[in-house]
This record gives sequence, structure tokens and C-alpha cells, in this order.
Amino acid sequence: MKKLEGAGLRGQTAGQTSLSTVEQEGSLRYLGYSIEDLAKHASFEEVAYLLLLGHLPNKGQLSDFEDELVSLRTMPNSLIPVLESIPADAHPMEVIRTIISYMGVTEPEKSFDEQLSVAKRLLGITSTAIVYWYKYSHENIKVEQNTGEKSVAGHFLKLLRQEDIEDLHKKTLDVSLTLYAEHEFNASTFTGRVCASTLSDIHSCLTAAVGSLRGPLHGGANEEAMKMLEEVNSTEEVRDYIDRKLENKEKIMGFGHAVYSVKDPRSDIIKAYSEELSKSHAKKMLHDIAAIMEEDMREKKNLFPNTDFFMAPAYHYIKIPTKLFTPLFAIARIVGWSAHVFEQRENNRIIRPSAEYIGPADREWEDIESR
Ligand SMILES: CC(C)(COP(=O)(O)OP(=O)(O)OC[C@H]1O[C@@H](n2cnc3c(N)ncnc32)[C@H](O)[C@@H]1OP(=O)(O)O)[C@@H](O)C(=O)NCCC(=O)NCCS
Repeated sequence: MKKLEGAGLRGQTAGQTSLSTVEQEGSLRYLGYSIEDLAKHASFEEVAYLLLLGHLPNKGQLSDFEDELVSLRTMPNSLIPVLESIPADAHPMEVIRTIISYMGVTEPEKSFDEQLSVAKRLLGITSTAIVYWYKYSHENIKVEQNTGEKSVAGHFLKLLRQEDIEDLHKKTLDVSLTLYAEHEFNASTFTGRVCASTLSDIHSCLTAAVGSLRGPLHGGANEEAMKMLEEVNSTEEVRDYIDRKLENKEKIMGFGHAVYSVKDPRSDIIKAYSEELSKSHAKKMLHDIAAIMEEDMREKKNLFPNTDFFMAPAYHYIKIPTKLFTPLFAIARIVGWSAHVFEQRENNRIIRPSAEYIGPADREWEDIESR
């Protein structure tokens, strides 16, 4: 099949959004605010409020929003046996997909008036549910759902680690969720919008989006980057390792981007956290290996790390199992996906592009006996 000019819809405008701008030169803004400012000054909950409600909250609004998310964390009883029946070798993104889909069965969106409540419920519940499944299937522990932590980041880490969490660890996860929250018409968001354009329910839209995020060319890259970093035993080996991969025409996970052409603005933000965490960690070398890979890939391929690359050592340092990297991306992106569903519904026309036909020319029908 001949390669289509502009394959992958690259560079084509497929609709309008007021939620974010992704610019080729390496800039990202949510509703006009730069990702650098948001990562530095805002909590993930503040960013979620901004994307879901369209403006930054004042102190009272933020506090009410945080309290509401806390109150929405507890799972419906019927979800527990569902999670307990999923084996440890299931892919955690399948678990996230099941959680969202199941919530659509047990707490369906009865009308679009409920869309904001559903989005908050899904944001509240997914951390509890994915960690519950992980601890039960891997360690045979039924975690207590209430952690007393106010933030999504604190709640996730405390449930997972069952200990008090250092501020830097909470801050690292919190910032990473902000970085992952929204990214214009990426593959999973676009999937969600296509589904929304049929006027389907929000659980279906988000379940579809999770399916797209699961792929290694999209959300799965943070896990793949971690596996790659663990294959290298010393900083001296990095350059040969990259040579071998490139000679075999393998992609280096966590590098390159479909829109950004010189840098991904999120990478330096999370890299700084990875570097800071590495200073007091026994496996400092992991960050050093990643930093050399960054240099080497720029020299050899003129490619830069995307947000997933330094996310890998950063998450490793805050003791998140590699399996849970992509689900964290999904938890954060529930915010962006939901905001896009709201936006699509507000000014909807069913998304139905056309294809360039490259099959056989018109033919005469042949009866089965004469074929
Ligand atoms: C993100 C990605 C899917 C973008 O894809 P794209 O816009 O279609 O870019 P292409 O795959 O056309 O890349 C252009 C060239 O750079 C090369 N390239 C791109 N990313 C590469 C990578 N990570 N490692 C090695 N080579 C890469 C491609 O092989 C291609 O080379 P060619 O022209 O000789 O065939 C791609 O860079 C990739 O697969 N990266 C690794 C997965 C990843 O990190 N995904 C997370 C994205 S946030």
C-alpha cells in the first residue's frame, strides 16, 4: 500500500478546542497558562479544576473541589469483587479500562447534565481502584480505602506504599499529573472525541480513550523507557546500547514526538525532579544513564526526550512499580479527556472523515461457480 501523503493526519486541523495549545517549537498551554507556570505554582487539583470548569479556582472553590474529590474516592461495594477477580498478570491498563467501564454500568451517566459529576467521580475513584487491585493481586492485601490524604498524588502513594510519604515524593507525582493532564488532539483524546461526537455516554468515551492510550507509541512509552533504562548496567554502556538499538531499527522509547519538533516542554520539568530525587537515592545511576541517553540521542538522531522519558526514573525513585506508570498517565488524563468530551458535546457534529480509495477499479460481478 503506498504511503499516504500526510499519513496519521499529521499537521491537519481536525477540529477546534479552547483547552490547550501545543506548539511545534516546544510550548504547551492549558487555557492560556504555560505548562511551566502550572507545574511550578498549581497543584494537580487546581489544574483539574481549570480544565473541567474553565477558570482557576479561588481558595474556597479549590478547597471545596478537593473535599469533593476526597468524598468520591470510595468504591461502590460491587466493584470490589470485580477487582479481586482480575489476575496479577493482567495489564494494568486493562484494569483501568475495566474500572471506568464498570462505573458506567453501576453509576451510569443518565443525562449530559451529570457529565461534570461523573468526571469528578472517575477522577476520585480510579486511584483507589487501581491500587486496590494491585495490592490485592500482587501482595494479597486488601487496602483500607481512606488514607486521610487530601491530594490525588498523596492518596495514590499512601495507598500503594502504606507509609507516610515524603513531601518531595508527593510533589513529584503531583507535578507529573499536571504534565499528563491534557494535550490537545493526541490519539486518545481524539478517540474520546470521536466517541463523544456520536452522543455516547462519557464512560464509553473514556473507555475508548484508555484503549488508545494503552499502546506503546502513546501512553505505554513511560513503562518501555523504564525497561530500557534497566537494561543498561553502567553509564559507560549507554552509547553502545543506543547504537545497537538504532542499528536494529528499534525505536528508543520516550524519544520523539508527533507535534513537537525541537523539544517537549514537559521533559525538562520532570527531569529536574528526577535529578533531585536521584541525589539521595542508591540508584542515582539510573538518572545519569537517562541523561547520557538524552545527549546521545540528540547527537545521533537529533531527537529529544518526550514527557515519558524522565518520568520513568522519577516514578521509579518514588517507588511506583513500573506496571503502574501508564495507569497514572490515564488517571491524570481523565481530566483532559472529560474536558474534551464536554467541549465536543457543546458544539457537536458527528466526526466522520472520508478515505482516499486505493482499491481495485469498478469490476463486473462474477458468479461463485465461475470464479
Ligand atoms: C512519538 C512518535 C510515535 C512520533 O511518531 P511520528 O511523528 O510518526 O514520527 P516518525 O515515527 O515518523 O519519526 C520520524 C523519524 O524519526 C525516527 N524516530 C522517531 N522517533 C524515534 C525514536 N523514539 N527512536 C528512534 N527513531 C525514532 C523514525 O524512525 C523516523 O525515521 P525515518 O524517517 O528514517 O523512518 C515516535 O517518535 C515514537 O514512536 N517514539 C517512541 C514512542 C514514544 O516515546 N511515544 C510517546 C509519545 S509522547
